Amino acid sequence: MPKAFVTGWPVSHSKSPLLHGYWLDHYKVDGSYEAIPVSPDDFKNFLFGLKDRDFAGGNITIPHKEIAFEIIEECDEAAELIGAINTVWFEGDCLRGANTDAYGFSANLDDQAPRWRQGKTALVIGAGGASRAVIFSLIEAGFNQIHIANRTVERAKVLAARFGSKCFAHSLDAVPELLSEAQLLVNTTSLGMTGDKGETSFDLSPLPSGAIVTDIVYTPLQTPILEEASNLGLESVDGLGMLLHQAVPGFEKWFGKRPAVTSGLRNHILDVL
Ligand code: ATR
Repeated sequence: MPKAFVTGWPVSHSKSPLLHGYWLDHYKVDGSYEAIPVSPDDFKNFLFGLKDRDFAGGNITIPHKEIAFEIIEECDEAAELIGAINTVWFEGDCLRGANTDAYGFSANLDDQAPRWRQGKTALVIGAGGASRAVIFSLIEAGFNQIHIANRTVERAKVLAARFGSKCFAHSLDAVPELLSEAQLLVNTTSLGMTGDKGETSFDLSPLPSGAIVTDIVYTPLQTPILEEASNLGLESVDGLGMLLHQAVPGFEKWFGKRPAVTSGLRNHILDVL
């Protein structure tokens, strides 16, 4: 029976056991998926002990994603550029790593707003770990002007340098002007997680009428930015789908079945948000 895990510190907040549990049930797969809290001090030993404990693989979440990238030698291009690993599996005795967040971001938009791929200019708010996955997706999708606006402009500059000549760094002051050129607006910051607008709200009215607005935050589902987009009649996509889609490649690797992201799964997770 294949066994998989999610590890983090803490890990109790993770939705992954619920998500993979749903698919295990739905597809009647004889397998297990468990949450294992592992402290930063113990993480390396945990990784090296996976083979002996008979795991097929698992997910790695905060705060271990970057350390996993440093330890695991075999990883995919997304993990290399993002600098973090969130999914691992064994090929023979070799532990391989991937970052599936970028895949999750793209697959969610492919599902909900497929014309996003026609865009050439995007505005990304935020320059943290999550922003890296988004930028990777945008480059892969063919965007050729990716504006990164961040409260701390230095962090935006570091990302722009990392991802190359299609990326441009800005402070948040530049947002109103950048909005007028953006075909896609992505919020990657925790702004609005509490549902509190405060300094978090931007006037989105400069966005072109065909612009798509998406947020990678999914608690609340309707973030202030998405709410404002809807008020303006713009197409908006919430961040829950990214969480669901990023889990697909891992499930397939560990359990041998490519699972589908369905409304049944979405409702199952929505029930606990
Ligand atoms: P993650 O890995 O989830 O992206 P992170 O690396 O902590 O998390 O990044 C959080 C992002 O939210 C950053 O872009 C951060 O801006 P700074 O780089 O200036 O810290 C942004 N952020 C968080 N709180 C914010 C706030 N109150 N106003 C503006 N930006 C905020």
